[in-house]
Amino acid sequence: MSVRDIVEVGVPSLRERATRVPTADLGSEDLATLVEDLVDSMRAAQGAGLAAPQIGVGLRVCVIEVRDNPRYPYKPNVPLTILVNPVITPLGDEMFDNFEGCLSVPGLRGLVPRHAGVRVEAFSPQGERLDSEIWGVTAGTYQHECDHLDGVLFLDRVRDTRSLSTWDAFREHHEADFARRVRALVERFGS
Ligand code: NI
Repeated sequence: MSVRDIVEVGVPSLRERATRVPTADLGSEDLATLVEDLVDSMRAAQGAGLAAPQIGVGLRVCVIEVRDNPRYPYKPNVPLTILVNPVITPLGDEMFDNFEGCLSVPGLRGLVPRHAGVRVEAFSPQGERLDSEIWGVTAGTYQHECDHLDGVLFLDRVRDTRSLSTWDAFREHHEADFARRVRALVERFGS
């Protein structure tokens, strides 16, 4: 188990576009170690996802997992998902406002418009092709993690900076309303 330090906003490497994992490296021990470190670090920090640039590795790899997450009590569970070289394509025009936080942006949350549905094409670490459609609030998590691979943070996508909120203020003033909207999304999309 190797829990790595999380790179925080302001560090230039977090803003760089990560490079594709070469096909020859699919199935490699190095890639397996990177994925293990990502999963360990995500779980240790109670994140809903983590991208390689957040542990200082400029490769297009991210992991997502939600298991009754205390940081995001309203988020539906998502089994551990590992994406190598993911490509995201919006499905339809519908957007929703997602109240996002990020391990690389400690202390702040903000409202970010996200696509309600996305197609995700990627590889597993072993090189299998993955192709799935993700809907609802979980689609927001996918978009957030894949943004990291382009050096984009949720802060860049906050449409109205007046929505920025500390975690305590979010819990006190915004969580109930947002959790209601998330429940409606989960009812419609199942995720
Ligand atoms: Ni993040």
